[in-house]
Amino acid sequence: MSRRPIIAGNWKMHNNREESKKLVCGIKEAIKDIDKDALPEVVVAPVFTSLGVVADEIATCGCGKIKLSAQNCYYEAKGAFTGEISIDMIKDFDAKFIIIGHSERRQIFSETDEMINKKAKAIIEAGLTPIICCGETLEQRELGVTDSHIASQIVKALDGVAPTDVANVVIAYEPIWAIGTGKTCDSAEANRVIKGIRATLAQIAGKENADKVRILYGGSVKPETIKEQMAQSDIDGALVGGASLKADSFVEIIKGAM
Ligand code: 13P
Repeated sequence: MSRRPIIAGNWKMHNNREESKKLVCGIKEAIKDIDKDALPEVVVAPVFTSLGVVADEIATCGCGKIKLSAQNCYYEAKGAFTGEISIDMIKDFDAKFIIIGHSERRQIFSETDEMINKKAKAIIEAGLTPIICCGETLEQRELGVTDSHIASQIVKALDGVAPTDVANVVIAYEPIWAIGTGKTCDSAEANRVIKGIRATLAQIAGKENADKVRILYGGSVKPETIKEQMAQSDIDGALVGGASLKADSFVEIIKGAM
């Protein structure tokens, strides 16, 4: 089963409009001579306030080599939800992906599995692709509950999603202890967990659909780690934080995934 790799940059709460423009221009420039079919699917996820400027840069390049993602959304279409952004508002910028269930949202903003499930369903309904994050804390890993915890996160996030829609979602396995710490999860271990995620997906949606799902690894991905990660059987790309904030290192990761 060949799955097109994805290299996605989660810029988190960094970059104003000018900085965002500079970063996306740097990426654009560095990949302009690479054939689109040779590239992985390249995705950038700026803050909401930079979606416009990044969307404009991507559109003027006209090459379709870079796709836009948001970092979060709300699942209701409109209404009295002060401070929230709807999926249609994100779609308005021609974004194709929305990251949901990132551990920072779960831990700092108390997002529940139920909310993440509502977001997943609303994103799919709108014709966009959710990048659904999952991952264990260091404590859970040491307690030996990593696999059951992640299976539970996946089952809950996809509750009520049609099997054929499951095939099109993207999952990001991000062990929380590896995020922003410089401690990358051992590639073979990340692959083992990701195989477990695929087995869970097969139970939910059947093997054929599960084999189509792209499952990314995230957590201190660097130019030096990407080749070994991509060489694993079930790792289909990376969700990159820190190393996506500089065009040079992000492009090195993109090239490492080719
Ligand atoms: P780092 O690559 O900075 O560890 O962040 C990973 C992450 O959280 C991406 O969503």
